[in-house]
Amino acid sequence: MTNNKTILVVGGTGMLGKPVAQQLKVDGFNVRLLARNPEKAQKLLGDGFEIIKGDVDDPAALRSALTGVDGVHISLKGGPTEADFDHMDHIATRDIAQAAKELGVGRVTILSAYAVSEEKADTPESRSKLKGEAALKSSGVPYTIFRASWFMETLPMFVQGKSISLIGNQIHPLHWIAAEDYARMVSKSYQTDETLNKELYIFGPEAFTMGEAMKIYAEYAGVKVAPISIQMLAVLGALTFNTEWKGMAVLMKHYENWGEDGSPDEANHLLGAPATTLKEWCNKRYSQPVNS
Ligand SMILES: NC(=O)c1ccc[n+]([C@@H]2O[C@H](COP(=O)([O-])OP(=O)(O)OC[C@H]3O[C@@H](n4cnc5c(N)ncnc54)[C@H](OP(=O)(O)O)[C@@H]3O)[C@@H](O)[C@H]2O)c1
Repeated sequence: MTNNKTILVVGGTGMLGKPVAQQLKVDGFNVRLLARNPEKAQKLLGDGFEIIKGDVDDPAALRSALTGVDGVHISLKGGPTEADFDHMDHIATRDIAQAAKELGVGRVTILSAYAVSEEKADTPESRSKLKGEAALKSSGVPYTIFRASWFMETLPMFVQGKSISLIGNQIHPLHWIAAEDYARMVSKSYQTDETLNKELYIFGPEAFTMGEAMKIYAEYAGVKVAPISIQMLAVLGALTFNTEWKGMAVLMKHYENWGEDGSPDEANHLLGAPATTLKEWCNKRYSQPVNS
C-alpha cells in the first residue's frame, strides 16, 4: 500500500515515537525522521525511512525537515528538570508548530497525556505539556492532540532487579494502552480530516490500578511487586542526588492525585478502539507467566 503523503516524525527513535513511524510506513506513508543521530535511527528503524540529521533546537534543520511534508508527529520527552520539561514539552512544540504553520504543513499531531489541564497543572511536566498544547492550538496549524493513558511499555521501567516498584498510593483505575494500538490510531488519524483540531483520549480496553497492572506484569516477568512510599523515594533521591528518583516522586504524586477523566469514545469511533489486553501484551513479550 502506498499513498503520496509524507509525514515527519520528531522523536521517531523514542519508545513511543518508533512504533508510530513504523505504523505510518506500514500504512503507505513516506516517513521522514528528524534524528540527532541518523546512524542510531537507521539501526533502530531499519530501511525505508528518510532520515534528516538535526536537533529541534536548530531552526534550519527543523525547517529543512518540515519542508514538503503533509504532517508532523511530535513524540519528544522532557525532564527530569523543570527547565528541560519546558524545553521539550513546551518550547520545542511551539517552535515546530510555528514553523509548520509558516511552511504550510497540513497538520501537527502530538502525544500528550490524560492528566493535562489547568486544574491538573501541578508538576513541571503537566504545566509544560499544557503550555505546549496551548502553543500548538494558537499557532493556527491544524492539529490533533493525543491524550493517552499509561502505556503498557512503561511497566518494565519500574523493575529493579527482582522487584517492580509500586510508588505511592495509586488508587485510580487506568486504561493501560499498548504502543502498537496507539500507533495504529495515530496513523489512522492522518487518513481522515475528522480528527483535525481535536484532543482525543487514547485509553486501552481494560482498567487496572497501577498495583493491579504491576501484579499481572510481575507474574510474567518473574518479579515481585515492592511498594515504596513517595516520601521515601523523594528522600532517597535527595540523599543520593538522584534527579530521576526526585522527578519520579513528583510524577507519582501527580498520578496519586489525578485519575483519568475525558472520554475515549470519539477517538475509538474515529480511529477504532484499541483491543490489546494487558495479558495479551505480556504474552507477546514473555509467552506465559513464570508461575503458570
Ligand atoms: N509513559 C506514558 O505512559 C506516557 C503516557 C502519555 C504520554 N507520554 C509521553 O510520551 C512522550 C514520549 O515518551 P517516550 O518514552 O517515547 O520518550 P523517549 O523514548 O525518551 O523518546 C524521546 C525522543 O525524542 C528525541 N529527542 C530528544 N531530544 C531531542 C532533540 N533535542 N532534538 C530532536 N529529537 C530529540 C529522542 O531522540 P534521540 O534518539 O536522539 O535521543 C527520542 O527519539 C513523553 O513526552 C511522555 O511524557 C508518556
